[in-house]
Amino acid sequence: MGASDLVAARAATILSGVALTSCPAKRQKALASMRSGQSRGVALVFLLLATLGAGPLSPARAGDDLLLEDAPAAKAPPSSPPAAAKADEKSDQKAEEDASKAHTKLFTENRFPSATVCRTCHPEQFRQWAESQHAYTQISPVLQAMQGLVLKLTNGTNGDFCIRCHNPIGMNLGEPLFTSTMERHPASREGVTCVVCHRMPEPYGKVSGRLYVNQGPIFSPVYGPTGHDELKRVIGSPDYSVNTDPDKPGRGIHGDVVKFERITTSAFCGTCHDVTLADNLRLEEAFSEWKNSPAAAKGITCQDCHMSTEPGKPSGYAFGPAAIVGGVPTHPRQRTDHRFAGPDYSVVHPGIFPFNDKAQALATIAEWITFDYKAGWGTKEFEAHVPEGTKFPPRWRSADDRFDARAIIEENLKSRAEMEEERRKILRIGYQLGDIEVSAATAGGVHFRVPVRNGIEGHNTPTGLDNERLVYLHVTVTDSQGKVVFESGDLDPNGDVRDQHSTYVHAGELPLDPYLFSLRSKFIVNMAHGGDREQVAPINISVDALPFVRPETRPAILTGRPSRSRKHKRGLPPLGERWAEYDVTQAQLAQGTPPFRANVKLMAGMIPVNLLTVIQVVGFDFEMSPRAVGDALSAGYQVLWEREAALPVTSR
Ligand code: HEC
Ligand code: HEC
Ligand code: HEC
Ligand code: HEC
Ligand code: HEC
Repeated sequence: MGASDLVAARAATILSGVALTSCPAKRQKALASMRSGQSRGVALVFLLLATLGAGPLSPARAGDDLLLEDAPAAKAPPSSPPAAAKADEKSDQKAEEDASKAHTKLFTENRFPSATVCRTCHPEQFRQWAESQHAYTQISPVLQAMQGLVLKLTNGTNGDFCIRCHNPIGMNLGEPLFTSTMERHPASREGVTCVVCHRMPEPYGKVSGRLYVNQGPIFSPVYGPTGHDELKRVIGSPDYSVNTDPDKPGRGIHGDVVKFERITTSAFCGTCHDVTLADNLRLEEAFSEWKNSPAAAKGITCQDCHMSTEPGKPSGYAFGPAAIVGGVPTHPRQRTDHRFAGPDYSVVHPGIFPFNDKAQALATIAEWITFDYKAGWGTKEFEAHVPEGTKFPPRWRSADDRFDARAIIEENLKSRAEMEEERRKILRIGYQLGDIEVSAATAGGVHFRVPVRNGIEGHNTPTGLDNERLVYLHVTVTDSQGKVVFESGDLDPNGDVRDQHSTYVHAGELPLDPYLFSLRSKFIVNMAHGGDREQVAPINISVDALPFVRPETRPAILTGRPSRSRKHKRGLPPLGERWAEYDVTQAQLAQGTPPFRANVKLMAGMIPVNLLTVIQVVGFDFEMSPRAVGDALSAGYQVLWEREAALPVTSR
């Protein structure tokens, strides 16, 4: 049994205690066994850490294949009971599955209507939401693996903390904490869907996503910014043939819109965009940062910037009909953008995301992931000359089906490309790079610097999940022949910058990058004898702290330091700037021939590869290998800005 098998096996053992079922009685049982299993869990985690050497991965494991070989994709959903599970539990589960299938439709329609129901009359909001990250919150294999890892490291004591915010409907339906998206109810796969925001009946504060969603069929009231009379006019007019009575024919419509003042304020977003862990670690602070920002002082809200005509800037709102009912638009009014572009993007098969119910009607997720769109299936060129030996899975044997699938893939790729463009636009508003200033350039050495600025007054850049935002400068100095004599911000073979989180740096295979300019925040945990160290996941697994996420058990005043993890923020405050400084030595210059040039690129990546190496032990959903996730991730790294300057070194 290799080390990784061992880890996977132990993960399964530990997680089997966390596999909560949707049956309340069983859940009680599972919770009870989880509690009683705690001490065993601790021992296992320690054993596990001992096996791994707790710290850096060894060089042999640090190579490219680390991502290829370790932790095969989660084939069976990790929540499935171990083979030893009792037979009656199995038949229970079977019955439960059948029942849940039969009830899916009812659930969706009568408790939490799907976004597709709202689309009937709000096609534009739907289209924008469908490609937004709000529709991706449950789909994300990275989120799932990361929360799986946190559950594992905390023996399940983290509970529904992560997922209740990423998947409020699933948690309201009592679904398991950790299971494949493929096993979830359709409405739960929609993540932060329409009803999450538009049936939030309470003016919550910073509740880290512990929120309630009103249940009811489409006829139940929605909560919106105006609650004005247009709805009444539509319901009362024969032109629209809508219907507020379930027993009558016609388009089902919400019988009321409640004016919910809160939804127009930043505090509404703060319900989810300020995340405080159970041990008080302030994981995300987009809302808190905004509260202290010049934008807040001027009354500029999240919505003003993120739902405006030019997302990222308070450029004002669009004006148009909020609904189109049976082809007839309602009276124009304020219309908000629901795309919420940001640094995140999808790493999954385009048959799964963006949200597209045509895709769902054509095939299941399990079938989609076998559709090899990259090989060109369903394109005219491919189908005219199907390469010999091509084996199609049963679902895709018919060329007609492949053509249909291709049409959907093209549609989804187009919508991804649109979001790619939006992402680039908003990131370029937030991150700005000034000109290179050369202060000394002699044969004895060159000194130059370049400013990086936060272009907005709304919050830090990066904000929110800033511990995973890899925004850095890639700097090279080249000679007249293009030879690189100085470099900072280059990547190791895994795709990580050369900081303490690079497995290559840790293993001594590559030197630390002393000039690295990175805005990524780091988690800091304590060591046994008072020191600190950086760590990828926010769980203190040092030997002196129990691996539980829970409130402090003793006052910090006794030890003079917090015993849990903290965050070292390195983002730029609103409108702030920081200079990156570089020294090229005489020895480095001596390796090339003048004239020299400096090139600086401001790079933005969604998530660093080293996070994947840490979370991969629980496996990735949709049968994705760690390598596949890594490739999709790095494909999205982009150059936001680039600057060049001549370094007029006169003589060698
Ligand atoms: C992340 C939360 C969120 C989600 C998800 C969301 N909305 Fe909204 N929606 C808002 C906010 C906030 C406003 C009001 C902004 C303002 O006017 O200040 C709004 C406004 C609206 C309006 C009023 C008209 C307009 O366009 O501004 C409609 C209609 C609407 N949403 C429909 C939908 C539908 C349909 C979906 C799902 C496809 C959806 N929303 C998903 C937050 C959300
Ligand atoms: C049969 C048509 C129809 C369906 C289905 C429908 N709506 Fe509406 N909705 C309307 C009309 C008409 C209005 C009024 C338009 C206006 O305010 O200008 C409206 C208004 C809204 C508003 C604006 C409220 C405000 O305070 O300004 C929101 C939010 C909203 N709907 C959300 C939803 C959500 C969420 C769903 C799905 C659960 C949904 N709608 C389904 C027709 C529909
Ligand atoms: C003055 C305009 C402005 C305001 C106000 C504003 N934002 Fe932003 N926001 C931006 C820009 C520009 C970016 C892109 C740069 C970045 O990612 O930091 C951004 C990025 C983000 C991101 C992605 C951050 C990341 O790097 O991971 C989130 C999440 C976010 N904003 C949420 C909010 C919330 C919530 C509020 C209100 C509490 C808010 N924003 C207020 C302009 C604004
Ligand atoms: C129910 C919880 C919830 C509410 C309410 C909510 N969000 Fe989000 N939002 C999320 C989650 C979870 C994500 C992460 C999605 C992902 O990347 O997988 C997210 C993503 C985003 C992003 C994209 C970030 C990125 O990294 O690309 C932006 C921008 C954003 N939200 C802004 C807002 C604003 C503005 C509001 C208020 C109008 C709001 N959100 C309300 C939960 C919420
Ligand atoms: C209160 C709501 C909330 C809770 C609780 C929460 N998140 Fe998030 N999460 C967000 C928001 C909002 C974003 C987008 C932040 C940004 O872009 O800056 C996000 C983004 C992410 C992302 C990046 C986008 C993606 O899906 O690939 C990951 C991974 C993630 N969260 C994992 C976790 C884990 C693990 C936990 C539990 C330790 C957790 N989240 C708990 C709200 C939450």
